[in-house]
Amino acid sequence: MAIYLPGTTEEEQISLDELTPREIVAELDKYVVGQKNAKRAVAIALRNRMRRQKLGPELAEEILPKNIIMIGPTGVGKTEIARRLAKLANSPFLKIEASKFTEVGYVGRDVESMIRDLVEVAIEMVREEKLEDVADRAELNAEERLLDILLPAGPQRSSPSDGGAAGFVLEGGDSQSRTREKLRQQLREGKLDDRIVEIDVREKSFPAFEIISNQGVEEMDINVKDMLPNIFGQRTKKRKMKVSEAFDYLIQEEEQRLIDTDQVTRIAVERVEQSGIIFLDEIDKIAGRESGHGPDVSREGVQRDILPIVEGTTVNTRYGMVRTDHVLFIAAGAFHVSKPSDLIPELQGRFPIRVELHSLTIGDFIRILTEPKSSLVKQYTALLETEGIRLEFTREALDEIANFAFRVNEGTENIGARRLHTIMERVLDEISFDAPDLQSKEVNIDADYVRKMLTDIVKDQDLSRYIL
Ligand SMILES: Nc1ncnc2c1ncn2[C@@H]1O[C@H](COP(=O)(O)OP(=O)(O)OP(=O)(O)O)[C@@H](O)[C@H]1O
Ligand SMILES: [Mg+2]
Repeated sequence: MAIYLPGTTEEEQISLDELTPREIVAELDKYVVGQKNAKRAVAIALRNRMRRQKLGPELAEEILPKNIIMIGPTGVGKTEIARRLAKLANSPFLKIEASKFTEVGYVGRDVESMIRDLVEVAIEMVREEKLEDVADRAELNAEERLLDILLPAGPQRSSPSDGGAAGFVLEGGDSQSRTREKLRQQLREGKLDDRIVEIDVREKSFPAFEIISNQGVEEMDINVKDMLPNIFGQRTKKRKMKVSEAFDYLIQEEEQRLIDTDQVTRIAVERVEQSGIIFLDEIDKIAGRESGHGPDVSREGVQRDILPIVEGTTVNTRYGMVRTDHVLFIAAGAFHVSKPSDLIPELQGRFPIRVELHSLTIGDFIRILTEPKSSLVKQYTALLETEGIRLEFTREALDEIANFAFRVNEGTENIGARRLHTIMERVLDEISFDAPDLQSKEVNIDADYVRKMLTDIVKDQDLSRYIL
């Protein structure tokens, strides 16, 4: 049974589920240009999840999850929409290629691993939050411990490390505590940074295990990393180091001590169950009902394996059982060869919301270059500003860049807005190289300059295949 400690910040987080669909779309508009239908659809999917959560279990079970399939060519914003959505609300978010999975029993990732990965994401997320909460406390504690070490033997403080801010107990006389305060002052001013102290450090667990456990061992569901401290764990050894290093080390140790791992786990699992989002990319690659021949492991098998997870099941993870009933699934694919109707019927039923994303126009390109919160133009401007360069693009230059991107997409392969990245890199190639040596700190990029940098490459199809 969960016990909720007072003072947790769970409630303060804005929950995406509380936003109205209209508000969600408005938020997404800040990052993704166009694709109105797709934004609407994800907003609806989220709202429906919330609605379903409010129902009693009996009815909720009857209602199939309203997951969503985004259909559209490459580079038009499918992943971007899902990614922004997750960031918006601080939901645990996992992006995974459906083609990575194999049927149970085959070598490869089994589908349940996506839930395990999602829980890891959530744990990391919650841990980060908690770290922030305890940061000040940890620093104060570390300072006390460091003072204990620095202070030449004498009457020690009665309770080391737990004292926190109010830690300096006035026992052992006034002069003792005055020395301590003086030392604290020096410590804070960094005057002791280079002094050498000796502290007990815990021996690190074996990095070799980390590497192995990334892949195969996870399926064993035994947590090797957790077992290690018990076997080798509490061994410490003395190490000499500078005060500044020791301080960092002690802060870390205090952080570990102050963070309530059980609480982190509980919140993380709960967050996955309530607001987790899994983005199943390349779903079209597993569409198709024929059982494959030869090495082509049955796609239908993978679809059948995915089914219960999407529908709602309980997955055993190293952090306990996780229910997937309310995890939102957003699938995406180009569906050039196959169609959503090539998915097995049961799976089609679990993804009832379909939405098509459109190919981007020149107009979209211009907007993508400038409008989103961290648009390419803003990125490059900021990068060069670090060297004192003021970069300006004329309106015509942006038109020209968008135009070139569009033409190269038509002439070679359509990679959508990704083309803007390669084009921009090309346009700014010389400036990026010369920036530190430039005399004038004002760089103005106009249409002529863009043409000068690009025309030759774009004209030569073979060349642009390689460079753009
Ligand atoms: N509509 C858009 N608005 C803003 N940026 C976009 C848009 N579409 C694409 N981009 C940019 O283009 C890049 C690729 O987009 P994204 O990752 O969303 O492609 P995708 O649709 O998922 O393609 P794929 O099918 O290849 O996975 C991203 O860096 C993104 O910022
Ligand atoms: Mg993508």
